[in-house]
Amino acid sequence: MTTFGRHLRPLWHLAADGTFLNHGSFGACPKEVLAYQARLREEMERAPDVFVRRNVSPRNPDNDLRRTAERLGRFAGTTGERIAFVSNATEAVNTVLRSMPFAAGDEILVLDCVYNAVRLAIEDVCRRTGAKMVKVALPIPLTVNDVVGRIADAAGPRTKLAIIDHISSPTATVFPVAEIARALKAKGVRVMIDGAHAVGQLALDLPAIGADWYTANAHKWLYAPKGSALFYASADASSMIAPLSVSHWHEMGFPRAFDYVGTRDVTPFLSVAAALDFIERFGAAEVRAYLEGLSRDGDAIVRRLGAVPVAPDAMFAAMRAYVLPQRRAAEGDDALTLMNTMWDEHRIWIASSAYQGKLLLRLSAQIYAERGDTAHAVEVLDRVGWPGRA
Ligand SMILES: Cc1ncc(COP(=O)(O)O)c(C=O)c1O
Repeated sequence: MTTFGRHLRPLWHLAADGTFLNHGSFGACPKEVLAYQARLREEMERAPDVFVRRNVSPRNPDNDLRRTAERLGRFAGTTGERIAFVSNATEAVNTVLRSMPFAAGDEILVLDCVYNAVRLAIEDVCRRTGAKMVKVALPIPLTVNDVVGRIADAAGPRTKLAIIDHISSPTATVFPVAEIARALKAKGVRVMIDGAHAVGQLALDLPAIGADWYTANAHKWLYAPKGSALFYASADASSMIAPLSVSHWHEMGFPRAFDYVGTRDVTPFLSVAAALDFIERFGAAEVRAYLEGLSRDGDAIVRRLGAVPVAPDAMFAAMRAYVLPQRRAAEGDDALTLMNTMWDEHRIWIASSAYQGKLLLRLSAQIYAERGDTAHAVEVLDRVGWPGRA
């Protein structure tokens, strides 16, 4: 028996009758990490003052939260001093958008595969300040050569901020963020990398990427409980941001000003320690290698549908997205209809989205999955089809 595969499924609560090929959207937290979180919650309720004042409050500089930040920071190539916890990538993006002073005519640069919630947050800031969102068109299928130059060319004298996906949501594409950050910084643009999918899926060296800010959800590919994400700020850019809720210890600045933004449940953050134990027991590099191999291995199977990958092999890691053959442009609820049909009638969860008029299929590899899961999903898709199938 190999180390990874379907036999690991009992380590999760995942429904026994399901086939799960969409770890990317919301992650899935192993039972042992959830048990750790439950123990922390009990500890908190047994002696709330001790828990909060000693283990969370920045008044104690060596508290559990800071120790966890230090460990997560090291996992991502940096130190705890550069890491704050936020509930999710959405919060980190909003924090940067609300902290930066935008004026009428300023530009905020994104890729056209920008995550929908991020786009909405940018549009909201633009409405209030008169700034303008500029989208870099990246027609699929993509090549690496297309990307860096196109993005850099789209930045002009009024571009104040670029929010660039590390791994995009609809297209699962891994962007060369260090090169992109270098090109944009050379033009004086502040850069935030939206690495919502990255930690756990890619080996990270955050300072080497060279962005001002970086966020990654620990609750996706790092197996942490929902509501935990890292928020990195470079030394230079850390003083530019403040938490969305200003609270005690605000004067301490980044990262401690983010540690106690009112009374709240910080067990998702503290449980990152158990998530790191979980992944490190298997070996983070071994996990990544399995995920990439499984994803690549599924490619030949998915292509039987006539599906075409949206990018070359080198631009995928643990997720892969394909254009499904359509006789018409993707419309309205096609993607949702496909996902719901696959689950309701066949107990298979896949991800799909309509993008550039095309219906995309996105499959996530995971250590609880194996080749047979992809083969099963493809066999069912081939049999039942999808809206507008060619
Ligand atoms: C690229 C990207 N950015 C941001 C997010 C938002 O993540 P969250 O809902 O955890 O804030 C996602 C979620 O899938 C994403 O794919």
